[in-house]
Amino acid sequence: MHKVGIIGWPIEHSLSPIMHNAAFRALGMNDWQYDAMPIPPDIVHYGIIQPQRHGYIGLNVTIPHKEAVMFYVKPDEVARAIGAVNTVDLRGEPIGTNTDVIGFIEDLRAHDVHLKGARVVVLGAGGAARAAVYGLSREGAQVVVVNRTKVRAQEMVANLSLNGGVQGVKVQTLDEAVEQPVDLIVNCTPVGMWPNTEATPWIDGVPFPKGVTVYDMVYRPEVTQLMRQVEQHGGRAIGGLGMLVRQGAVAFKLWTGRDAPLDVMFTVLKEALQAR
Ligand SMILES: NC(=O)c1ccc[n+]([C@@H]2O[C@H](COP(=O)([O-])OP(=O)(O)OC[C@H]3O[C@@H](n4cnc5c(N)ncnc54)[C@H](OP(=O)(O)O)[C@@H]3O)[C@@H](O)[C@H]2O)c1
Repeated sequence: MHKVGIIGWPIEHSLSPIMHNAAFRALGMNDWQYDAMPIPPDIVHYGIIQPQRHGYIGLNVTIPHKEAVMFYVKPDEVARAIGAVNTVDLRGEPIGTNTDVIGFIEDLRAHDVHLKGARVVVLGAGGAARAAVYGLSREGAQVVVVNRTKVRAQEMVANLSLNGGVQGVKVQTLDEAVEQPVDLIVNCTPVGMWPNTEATPWIDGVPFPKGVTVYDMVYRPEVTQLMRQVEQHGGRAIGGLGMLVRQGAVAFKLWTGRDAPLDVMFTVLKEALQAR
């Protein structure tokens, strides 16, 4: 049996086992399994060592371990740049990477969103925002970060510059950010996520840019309040489910060497989200 899995705390709500196990079944990979493993924060290193000892060949890493795991694996360039690991290859010395960056950028590409030279406002300064800012900057976008706690955004930009060579990212208020035309807004905050589905990260009174595209990393609900707002202003809305699928597909390919069945993964995730 080929074993992969996910470590986190708590882990019961993770959708990754459903997504990966459905992909294995769809490809007839009956000797593969994906397990959820609850690992408390104080023993995170066992979350790497023990699965490896038990023959697991790969892991996903989720909240709250993405940063802490950096100390127990060899991070690749992307993981080092954004300071977080979400995927580990356990064959030999554990190597950590972060597939959120490529999952996000590939989903934008799949939606024909043009990034080179685009002016992008990123809302938030947590782990998801780090991945977004790094990926967008590498694609040649001009990025402005807006965050509730400004100093946290400034720290994030300084770290990305130091560890990822990312230059030219600005930190502004939302008012300042919309003074110039905006092509893309990326929500990297949890605002609008179920059960607070009426909430929006857009600040009341700040004019909504017309004709802009919104990418909302929130995927539950599938259509968020922010997505409705952009459509009301003649813009385009893209939800975060595609990023979830594509970051999983990159890990799947890394472990198995096979292309993941994206359509199967989308379908089971939609079903699982509707059932919750
Ligand atoms: N689609 C996907 O595949 C995917 C992948 C990764 C993450 N996500 C989603 O992205 C979201 C962020 O995840 P994360 O890991 O980056 O979280 P995180 O590290 O906790 O960061 C959250 C960010 O949101 C801001 N924020 C939180 N509550 C806020 C509020 N009420 N008003 C304004 N700002 C608020 C925080 O601001 P402060 O700095 O001021 O606290 C922080 O910058 C989550 O909903 C997560 O599910 C989706």
